[in-house]
Amino acid sequence: MQLRPIISEDDIQHRVSELASRIRSDYAGRDLIVIAVMKGSMFFMVDLIRKLDRPVCVDLISVTSYRGTASNGRPEIQMPVTIDLRGRHVLVVDDVLDTGLTLGHILWHLRERGVASARVCVLLTKKVLRAADIHADYSGFELDGEFVVGYGLDLDGAYRDLPYIAAVEPDEG
Ligand code: IMP
Ligand code: MG
Repeated sequence: MQLRPIISEDDIQHRVSELASRIRSDYAGRDLIVIAVMKGSMFFMVDLIRKLDRPVCVDLISVTSYRGTASNGRPEIQMPVTIDLRGRHVLVVDDVLDTGLTLGHILWHLRERGVASARVCVLLTKKVLRAADIHADYSGFELDGEFVVGYGLDLDGAYRDLPYIAAVEPDEG
């Protein structure tokens, strides 16, 4: 297995700044709660909210569905959001929109809790056929179906600390 860098640290930081300024203007004059999907989005969420440069409330949610590089297709919320979300504007921040099952489940959970609005911001959108009809309101980069690591994304817990994003490829030969 080898790693092939595909998105540099500079390109990530530049794009996160662009997303932050769009979000800042879209939410001008409204309160905003950012809910980060752990653990993959943690670096992205921290960089994004620092670049937002406006007051924001942050909470975390944790959903499991992946083992290795394949999904078992059954997302389960492990750490439900603790703050009262009724009537609030929520931006869900995740690392990757892949099948959409994870974000679909989270959006359902948030609507059950009576949010005023819920939007999705992802670092990466995979160009694949989604199992759930979910789109990202804000998306950093588009990828083909390849499995990637770095900048928070992991392969069985490893490589989250890389400052860039790399595709995981089998060894040649
Ligand atoms: P979905 O429910 O299939 O959309 O899965 C989204 C979640 O799967 C993301 O939040 C990631 O945690 C994980 N995931 C999907 N693709 C990748 C990848 O290429 N690398 C690492 N994690 C991934
Ligand atoms: Mg995730």
